[in-house]
Amino acid sequence: MIKLEIDKKAYDSIKNFSRLIYTKAIKNKEDLPKKEEIVVLTYKNRFVAKALYNPNSVIIKILTIKDEDIDYNFFYKRILEAKKYREDIIKYKNTYRWIYAEADFLPNIIFDKYNELGAMQLMSKLIEREYLKDIVDILFELSDLETIYIKSGKKGEKVKEKVFGDKSKKETIITEGEAKFIVNVKGHKTGFFLDQRENRLFLERFVKEGDRVLDVCCYTGGFSVHAALRGGYVVGVDLSKKALKVAEENMELNKIPKDSYEFIEGNAFEVMESFLNDNISFDTVILDPPAFAQSKKSLKNALKGYSSLNYLGLKLANRIFVTCSCSHHVDRELFKKTVFSSAFRAKKELILIDYKGQAYDHPITLANKNLEYLKCIFSYVRGQAER
Ligand SMILES: C[S@@+](CC[C@H](N)C(=O)[O-])C[C@H]1O[C@@H](n2cnc3c(N)ncnc32)[C@H](O)[C@@H]1O
Repeated sequence: MIKLEIDKKAYDSIKNFSRLIYTKAIKNKEDLPKKEEIVVLTYKNRFVAKALYNPNSVIIKILTIKDEDIDYNFFYKRILEAKKYREDIIKYKNTYRWIYAEADFLPNIIFDKYNELGAMQLMSKLIEREYLKDIVDILFELSDLETIYIKSGKKGEKVKEKVFGDKSKKETIITEGEAKFIVNVKGHKTGFFLDQRENRLFLERFVKEGDRVLDVCCYTGGFSVHAALRGGYVVGVDLSKKALKVAEENMELNKIPKDSYEFIEGNAFEVMESFLNDNISFDTVILDPPAFAQSKKSLKNALKGYSSLNYLGLKLANRIFVTCSCSHHVDRELFKKTVFSSAFRAKKELILIDYKGQAYDHPITLANKNLEYLKCIFSYVRGQAER
C-alpha cells in the first residue's frame, strides 16, 4: 500500500475526528497514485489512517484510524454500528438512511433502507470492484432486505447500476407517523427524501382543518400528504410529471378526498408569480427546492434564486412559512439572512418558530461540517404585517 506523509495540520485534524483531508496536505506528492486506491497516511513516518484516494478529487477520505485490514470484517463492523445507531439510539424502524458516507466511516456510500427494499448511491469504482459484493451480503445478512439497488451518485465515480436479490421489486410503501408513501427506488436520488422526515412530521402541528397549503417543489407529495392528513387543502407544484403522478397516488393511498388537493406541473417561480398576480394566497407555504448551489462557484446565483423564491413564497403566505435549502454551500446563517432579507422585501414580519435540519439518520459528526446540508426554517407570519 502506498504511504503518503501528511503535514501537521492534517494530522491534527484527523486526531480531532475529521474524516477527510486535502491533497495539499501530502508531502510526497510524487507518490500520489494514478488511479483510485486505498493508501496509508503517515505522520513522521508513523501510521495515522487508511484512506480512499481518487486522482480526480482533492479530497482524501479516511476509512479507518486503526491499522486494520479493509475486508469483510471491516465493513461488517461499520455497517452493524451504523444500524445500531439508527435502530437502538434514534429508534427508527424499517425505513432509514442506514449508511451516510463519512458519518459512518464509509465514504462514498449512501444507503437507504425502505422496509425490504434498499437503494445505494455508490461513488467509488474501487469499492464497487473490490467490496460491493461483501457490503451487499452484509446488508442482507443484518436485515430483512430482499432487494438492493445500486445507483450512481451525482458526484464522484460513475458505477454500473445493478440490482441484487429479488429483481422484480422496485416499490414499497413506507410509513411516516400517520402518513404512508409509495417509494420507488427508480425515483430521484435513492427514491425518497428521508432527510425531511422530522420536518414533515413537525409541519402537522401547524395545519388546521380547512387551511390552504402550498407545497412548492413537492416531489411525491411528502409535505402535502402530512398537511392533507391534518385537514388542509393542498396545492402541490413540481416540474416533474412523474413525481406528481406518485404524489396523486400517495394522496389516494392516504385516503385524502380528491377535492382536497391539486397538483400543478410547472416551474415554481412562474406558478407562484401567477398566484400573486391573481391575488391568491395560502395559510401555509412550504418551499423545498433542489440544491441551487452545487458548488462554491455557483453560490452567488444560488442566493439570488433563494432570494426570489422566498420573496414569492412570503408574499403568498398568510400564517406559516416553511422554507428549506439543501445546498451544503449555503450555511445556516447565510440561509437565514437570505430568508430574512426576502421577508423585509416582501414586507412580512416573521417570528422564527424553529430552525431545523436534516433527519437524525443523516448524522453530522463533530468535525465534519461537510455532512451538514439541509436547513429548514419554520416561521410564523405575523398578522397584518404589511407596512
Ligand atoms: C428536494 S425535492 C423536494 C422533496 C419533497 N419536499 C419531499 O418531502 O419529498 C425538490 C423537488 O423540486 C423539483 N423542482 C426542481 N426545480 C423545480 C422548479 N423550478 N419548479 C418546480 N419544481 C422544481 C424537483 O422535481 C424535485 O421534485
